[in-house]
Amino acid sequence: MTARRGGVPQRIVVLGCGGFVGSHLLDRLLDDPRLTVEGWDADVRKIAHHAGRDNLILHHARLLDDPDALWRAIAAADLVVSLAAIAQPSQYNTRPVEVIEANFLDLYPIVQACARRQRHLVHLSTSEVYGRTLASYLPGNAYDVPELYELAEDRTPLVMGPIKNQRWTYACAKQLLERSIYAHHRELGMPFTIVRPLNFFGPRMDFIQGHDGDGLPRVLACFMGALLDGRPLQLVDGGTARRTIVSIHDAIDAIERIVRRPDRVAGEILNIGNRDNEITIAALADLMRRTYADITGDPAYRTHPIELVAGEDLYGEGYEDCDRRMPDVGKAWELLSWRPRIALPEILAETMRAYHEAYAGRARAA
Ligand code: UGA
Repeated sequence: MTARRGGVPQRIVVLGCGGFVGSHLLDRLLDDPRLTVEGWDADVRKIAHHAGRDNLILHHARLLDDPDALWRAIAAADLVVSLAAIAQPSQYNTRPVEVIEANFLDLYPIVQACARRQRHLVHLSTSEVYGRTLASYLPGNAYDVPELYELAEDRTPLVMGPIKNQRWTYACAKQLLERSIYAHHRELGMPFTIVRPLNFFGPRMDFIQGHDGDGLPRVLACFMGALLDGRPLQLVDGGTARRTIVSIHDAIDAIERIVRRPDRVAGEILNIGNRDNEITIAALADLMRRTYADITGDPAYRTHPIELVAGEDLYGEGYEDCDRRMPDVGKAWELLSWRPRIALPEILAETMRAYHEAYAGRARAA
């Protein structure tokens, strides 16, 4: 059973509803009084503004703290959205056991429960399952041969480095979960949709080191923390890696379309990204410096120091980088009439302004 009323789900379980993506998804879903969301998260700071909403049943807990409550919720739901993950590269090779547990073992019983109840599972996976591009293994620059670097959901091989490069623990755990979901679909008929996010950026992403979290967040929050605290931006391995960045608002548009009409994308894997926003990490550092100079009105940020660091020095032994992620989003267009719209300068201006408003006072006081 995918949905109860005319194909449109009314009761939705959201696992990991307090994270970056979950908080933005709740902003959309809870505004619709016809929907009830039953959500789980151990950290609810990003959804504090939803406390007391009539159509939110919130479990401030880890997923498997009370499995019976979770199985009951899945049985009562029309749709399950799974967002729970450890998705910080700094942890892939420093806490690999936890990464495998959180991204595979903890979620496997949820796949089984969805299969038992025949509930549609919308699972947020990762672009990292693609690993490195074939182009990156060839001598010279093969980036002008699109077949070697473009990422298409049902065509592109998934290429990961050796076991000792523990960066790939995360990608491998996520890939095994994708394969488990697909297997439950093929053998047991469980309806599913897998989303592969490609660098969603926006307000509330991650945390700022030393302000509201420890450890190393992803690049946006690393560079932002450095600008706020007057530290150099650290550029890993020359900043030659490339990423395509999509606004969280565009991304939530896509996820909301999936959640409202899962029947249109049943049995499908979908890239959600924006290839028009491709940038090297070195160019991202420079664009963030210029954007912050505009936000603060202080031109000194344009030449804020940048320091070159080796990946293994920042992330520890076993770090390896994904080189390029150029998504084919044709399927999302065909099935959901979705395409991304927001350009990178606009994404950075909105996001960095939000960080500035939330943290700049605290940074100055410190
Ligand atoms: C991460 C996750 O592993 C993915 O699951 C997730 O899908 C993806 O983020 C995402 O946000 O979609 P990645 O893009 O490698 O993947 O994460 P970042 O930590 O943001 O790294 C991006 C690039 O910036 C890498 O080349 C990294 O070496 C570089 N970097 C990071 C720096 O140059 N300096 C820093 O201070 C931090």
